Amino acid sequence: MKTRVVVVTGGNRGIGREICRQLAKLDLMVVLTSRSQKDGLEAVAEFDKQELPVRYCPLDVTDPSHILKLKDFLIKEFGRCDCLVNNAGIFLDNNEGNFFNTDVATVRETMETNVCGPYLLCQALVPLMKKNNYGRIVNLSSGLGQLSEMGGGYPAYRMSKTAINVVTRVLAAELADTNILVNSMCPGWVKTRMGGSGAVRSVEQGADTAVWLATMPDGGPTGKLFRDRKEISW
Ligand SMILES: NC(=O)c1ccc[n+]([C@@H]2O[C@H](COP(=O)([O-])OP(=O)(O)OC[C@H]3O[C@@H](n4cnc5c(N)ncnc54)[C@H](OP(=O)(O)O)[C@@H]3O)[C@@H](O)[C@H]2O)c1
Repeated sequence: MKTRVVVVTGGNRGIGREICRQLAKLDLMVVLTSRSQKDGLEAVAEFDKQELPVRYCPLDVTDPSHILKLKDFLIKEFGRCDCLVNNAGIFLDNNEGNFFNTDVATVRETMETNVCGPYLLCQALVPLMKKNNYGRIVNLSSGLGQLSEMGGGYPAYRMSKTAINVVTRVLAAELADTNILVNSMCPGWVKTRMGGSGAVRSVEQGADTAVWLATMPDGGPTGKLFRDRKEISW
């Protein structure tokens, strides 16, 4: 099979679902993953109706056994993995949350989903990418994780999004002599369950830069942070 195979986490709703749609429209074989099988299968059924190439695999990113099963699924069904979009994320801080009233349990839980999940997924799937000397990894970050713009509030989420940028930088450096490109992106403030109804961007706009990075030609940027297809500071 020559078609590129791309894994998207948290593909059942929000920005992740739109990333799946846009990538499938470009004729990539999308493996939509979600922690709720019911929600994931519903999303895949809708894509099926539009004759888009989307398959389903269950995945709670905090469960290492799910990650191993995903890897087995990719090997068995496609014999390859070309791209990973680490989209799944949680925002547990409340709006009045600050450094002193945010429980460390909230920090730990947020890190588990937003950082450790992507970390384990990269460890599991990069070896498949190396086999074909081709890979694209896109980590969904946020302006709230930019050290250059860092303010108060939302400590758990901010720390997790700074940390996912570390995953991007370290991995990009270690893969510098390969054709595996690793980048972070900020989707902007997007109307989703996480972003809320006051957000200013559509999911289409939020997904655009992730899709652009996921389909970047050889020789493209690696180890960078983007918003609206432009590099921004860490
Ligand atoms: N919306 C924004 O304004 C905004 C801004 C900056 C960055 N981002 C980032 O963009 C990404 C997508 O956000 P969104 O706005 O689309 O959020 P969303 O609507 O809340 O969707 C989050 C997705 O992540 C999934 N998820 C959460 N924990 C998971 C786990 N343990 N395993 C697998 N899936 C899990 C959710 O699944 P369930 O349906 O099962 O909960 C859902 O599919 C996140 O990484 C977020 O931090 C969003």
